[in-house]
Amino acid sequence: MSKLWGGRFTGGPAEALAALSVSTHFDMRLASYDLAASKAHARVLHRAGLLDDEEVGRLLDALDALSHEVASGEFTARPEEEDVHAALERGLVERLGPLGGKLRAGRSRNDQTACELRMYCRDHTRQLAADLLDLIDALTAQAVEHASTPVPGMTHLQHAQPVTFGHQLLAHVQALLRDLERLRDWDSRAAVSPLGSGALAGSSLPLDPVAVAAELGFESCAANSMDGVADRDFVAELLFVTALIGVHLSRLSEEVILWSCQEFSWITLDDAYSTGSSIMPQKKNPDIAELTRGKAGRLIGDLTGLLATLKGQPLTYNRDLQEDKEPVFDALDTLKLVLPALAGMIATMTVHGDRMAAAAPIGYSLATEVADWLVREGVPFKDAHEITGALVAHCAKNGIELHEVSDADLATISPHLNASVRDVLTVEGALAARTTPGSTGPGPVADQLAAVREALPTW
Ligand code: ARG
Repeated sequence: MSKLWGGRFTGGPAEALAALSVSTHFDMRLASYDLAASKAHARVLHRAGLLDDEEVGRLLDALDALSHEVASGEFTARPEEEDVHAALERGLVERLGPLGGKLRAGRSRNDQTACELRMYCRDHTRQLAADLLDLIDALTAQAVEHASTPVPGMTHLQHAQPVTFGHQLLAHVQALLRDLERLRDWDSRAAVSPLGSGALAGSSLPLDPVAVAAELGFESCAANSMDGVADRDFVAELLFVTALIGVHLSRLSEEVILWSCQEFSWITLDDAYSTGSSIMPQKKNPDIAELTRGKAGRLIGDLTGLLATLKGQPLTYNRDLQEDKEPVFDALDTLKLVLPALAGMIATMTVHGDRMAAAAPIGYSLATEVADWLVREGVPFKDAHEITGALVAHCAKNGIELHEVSDADLATISPHLNASVRDVLTVEGALAARTTPGSTGPGPVADQLAAVREALPTW
């Protein structure tokens, strides 16, 4: 193993240690951030008089050359190298000889790795936000199309009250908008550079952590060097957000799976976003939605795994912290796969509005309209609930719908009931009557759509 720490050791590391310790198979992803941080560090060492003009010029050139080679795949870590930092220092020394070793002054892999992982996460959450926006766009476009399509609104997965399909899709959009908000809020706390914290105590060299932070796009530098190298809140918080996004996508997926099954037949998924069966030729399966639901479990695991890794660690850096990277890489990779597939599936699904509308009044879902009508007639809601319950029981017993009860039977059930109650017994009427902000009527849904549209361009 080519090491950054050979001096006080007599022999090389055991093979088993080297195998356990190596992280280049995942942390080479941080190479471009390590090189950017190295350039900022070189400039600071130069300003501090620790590198002369010629040295800093050669270092910056070599770092640029190395960046290109990393990007093109020409430069790779060697099997004997422990991590990305060791590999890149070797690359510099190969080019510059002893000058390549000067860059290590005043910094440690402890502050480097913490800084570069922040940079990686901040960069990749921008892509995540863009992918979320694409899904929001797909949901919103379907919501516009079906802003007035009635559908059974459910609680306990039982028909409750009619809503519009657009309103239901926008409910999912609201959750995703909060996720975008969480990412923005997370970024404001993640924008702190740990560079300058050194191994844990800061540096005796005249470094400039504030300038380095600014050069690397951070808002500030760590207020406490021990916290600077030990803090992984930014990973835990981001993994909470990605887990919650996973949960939101999973709930949407569960609905898509239900809507597309034979019994519902509310939607048909496009062939390009469905899969078949190896034995049953007729099958068309919602695999995207199922994989999304499955991967939510994995995203939750990424979060809980990291929290368990962190919980027992004393300050400051411990090697356990190397376990911070794979969960967050996995979470971001997972969403990068899931979101475009889901957005395509939603954008291309065919909605069977006629079937939704036909199902909307089934299961006495207009009963609340009767109770509200009675309230408008001056009946206390408690009594209105009882009377309507008796009406539903009568219908269920006779196998008829609410609007099919005869005038005589209405009067028998309650003297408060009469023929004009039938006026409220249409799905369209029930929807139109919902005019308060946030409700499912056409007016509030149009307002909601306008507000969603207005919220989007700020991203
Ligand atoms: N590769 C390590 C990590 O990702 C950084 C190495 C720090 N090693 C050390 N002995 N302090 O956490």
